[in-house]
Amino acid sequence: MAQSSKQVINFGAGPAKIPRQVLEQARDEILDCGCGISVMELSHRSADYAAINDRAIESVKELLDVPNNYKVLLMQGGGTAAFASVALNLLHRGEKADYILTGVWSTKAAKEASKYLKINYVYPKPEKFERIPDQSTWKLDPDAAYVYYCDNETVNGVEFPFIPETNGVPLVCDMSSNMLTRNFDVSKFGVVLACAQKNLGPAGITVLIVREDLIGNPSPICPTVMDYTLFANDNSLVNTPPTFIVYVFSLVLQWVKKQGGVAGMEQQSKAKSQLLYNTIADSDGFYSCPVDDGFRSRITVPFRLSAGPEADKQFLKESQDLGFLQLKGHRLVGGIRAAMYNAITVEEVKVLADFMTSFQERNPQFRLTQK
Ligand SMILES: Cc1ncc(COP(=O)(O)O)c(C=O)c1O
Repeated sequence: MAQSSKQVINFGAGPAKIPRQVLEQARDEILDCGCGISVMELSHRSADYAAINDRAIESVKELLDVPNNYKVLLMQGGGTAAFASVALNLLHRGEKADYILTGVWSTKAAKEASKYLKINYVYPKPEKFERIPDQSTWKLDPDAAYVYYCDNETVNGVEFPFIPETNGVPLVCDMSSNMLTRNFDVSKFGVVLACAQKNLGPAGITVLIVREDLIGNPSPICPTVMDYTLFANDNSLVNTPPTFIVYVFSLVLQWVKKQGGVAGMEQQSKAKSQLLYNTIADSDGFYSCPVDDGFRSRITVPFRLSAGPEADKQFLKESQDLGFLQLKGHRLVGGIRAAMYNAITVEEVKVLADFMTSFQERNPQFRLTQK
């Protein structure tokens, strides 16, 4: 593919922007990772690769302050494999599980898990995902093997402002699109999972943080590559890992540390989302976000032009021509979506916000007239 000289800002939801410094370091080290060959050519059984693997796992522990009774696992198959692996590793606790549906990804996770256990929806599936029903209305099953939710719904832009209370039932959480964007208390969870291609690096690995007491009883039909016990015992080196991906992932973690760690990223994500939501709020209804105020994502912001799909189309065309990449909303919901993962800077969001304001000024025909 030819190189582009055009300045672009990549708001893609994943695979997503990777920090420039990380890509430059990977480029500089691609022929020789310090041992005479490329990291891609290293045996995963070598001491050199063990150091890369250990550094990645230790950095996750350090950045998220992971307690000693948890294991950090690096697995393959993306978030989707983890939807199944959660059920296959926790099935020993019971044959049913509670699912909290707040968008596309928790719905997909429930569907996948339903192949292995009975699903209890803690409230009826809403027609639209615009808010999280009050916890007092949830019907949690005290005998559930686990309670599952998605902390940030990447498609729908719904983010949890709280950690659900489960009265001792292990809590399983998909943090694929907001891991490392805010601090959280790992000890409140049984399993936390996140595919890498958003905040953590290139697509190809899924990070799982699993409490030790949940490890050791996989279902007999659990495939080797989904087995938490084997991955915990073998330091995630059960079979050949995507070695280059783990290496880039480790570089991203070092980059996060240099940005002030998770607290630094949290501050930035707050500033970025405020910029965008303020622009929407100040637009006099020209732009709208479908999610209720208290549940709006700091990371993946869906919005649309109130004038309708044709107006969205023109916005997307112009923004694309100017170098804003991948702003098109997910195919299931349409509209526009800005994913503002850790690698996206406040300045880049400012450029988008300025474009939104200028687009509004230049297109009065899309202003809704009062009835
Ligand atoms: C929140 C969330 N969970 C899970 C997934 C699925 O990940 P994968 O495509 O790696 O299977 C995605 C993908 O975008 C996601 O956004």
